[in-house]
Amino acid sequence: MKVLVIGGGGREHAIVDALARSAQVEKIWCAPGNAGIAAQAECVAIKETEVERLRDFAAANEIDLTVVGPEVALAAGVVDAFKAAGLRIFGPTKAAARIESSKEFAKDLMAKYAIPTAGYRAFTEYAEALDYVASRPLPAVLKYDGLAAGKGVVIAETLEEADAALKDMLLDDKFGEGKVVVEDFLTGPEFSFMCFVSGRKVWPMALAQDHKRAFDGDKGPNTGGMGAYSPLPFVTAEDERYALEKILQPTADAMVAEGCPFEGVLYGGLMKTPQGIKVIEFNARFGDPETEVVLPRLKSDIVDIFCAVADGADTQLEWHDFATLGVVLASKGYPGSYEKGHEIKGLDRVGSAVYHMGTKADGGRILTAGGRVLFVVGKGATLAEARANALKDVVQIGCDNLFYRTDIGHWAFEK
Ligand code: AMP
Ligand code: GLY
Repeated sequence: MKVLVIGGGGREHAIVDALARSAQVEKIWCAPGNAGIAAQAECVAIKETEVERLRDFAAANEIDLTVVGPEVALAAGVVDAFKAAGLRIFGPTKAAARIESSKEFAKDLMAKYAIPTAGYRAFTEYAEALDYVASRPLPAVLKYDGLAAGKGVVIAETLEEADAALKDMLLDDKFGEGKVVVEDFLTGPEFSFMCFVSGRKVWPMALAQDHKRAFDGDKGPNTGGMGAYSPLPFVTAEDERYALEKILQPTADAMVAEGCPFEGVLYGGLMKTPQGIKVIEFNARFGDPETEVVLPRLKSDIVDIFCAVADGADTQLEWHDFATLGVVLASKGYPGSYEKGHEIKGLDRVGSAVYHMGTKADGGRILTAGGRVLFVVGKGATLAEARANALKDVVQIGCDNLFYRTDIGHWAFEK
């Protein structure tokens, strides 16, 4: 089979890696890919949002299966364009991807189908939003309604902070056309429950936990994710069953009922609150960096799964028992502004899997080329062993402009 992967981060590197393990795969292309992916796939210089060029490339190269990584490609309608051309593609249509691209769509869907989530109201007027926030207890949870690369959420501890965020989101048009969802503040450990979904069929993946804050102790600004691990000792089998039966399955069914059946990965960002498990957000794609710790634990052939989802067929998932724990190396300054082009050395000394998130080849050298740069994934019989392996390898990597967290997995070790 000839396979094309769309995207160029750590998630896509892990997808390419999983495809490379399949005996059914003859050749992999990745658009645009990155310096790490280039070792396992032929990188093609087409951007993730250049829908027509991607479609024409797939048709011209007789690609049997295309797998979409990033949300921007979904929101640009890449799946719709491929389907219209009769090309097999793994991912949701633009209409189904609204479960991620529009917070209001997701919240309305959950309200209509009684899927447990935080209470909320949506606003377009700055003054109304501020009045509402002022009338309620702090902290206030403010979510910009649209894609904002994981940075569209502000947890405001004071009214001044809430005011500044609402101005940004509704008056300054910093993100684009403005709408804001104001949510009740929930507490408890968060976890990511990704499922392969094809209409009403739902195949759950192993659970993972991301670490969104930039610094140790869950301090600092929210990022796209600074580390992840799998499995999760604090989520019981009963919790998992509840999340599947009360959240993921009813959501898949709701999408069918709404006339936009979901195909691809439905990602539940869930919180285990004192009042039960609730949805914090849905994503319409594999999580990053969760995918990099979950797919290595997948025993089944991923091609069978992608094809079953795309073709509406049946399949089964099997998982390895070992644990994985990954640490992100990010550019100093991330998630704010940062420099690119710093040389990375010592990758050959690393025994763990290294997924490239934002790198560029420059002759024989590998340079930093993004906010999140590398993801080192340790493996072990236990999470403690996986963490020791990851941290042992992280220090082998030499680069003067990277930082990382040393406490990834702390929820698993403290509780
Ligand atoms: P999101 O992009 O919606 O996942 O939000 C980013 C992060 O903000 C989440 O991972 C949570 O840590 C936090 N967050 C979002 N919504 C809430 C909420 N309703 N209550 C408490 N924390 C939240
Ligand atoms: N790791 C969170 C996300 O992929 O949105």
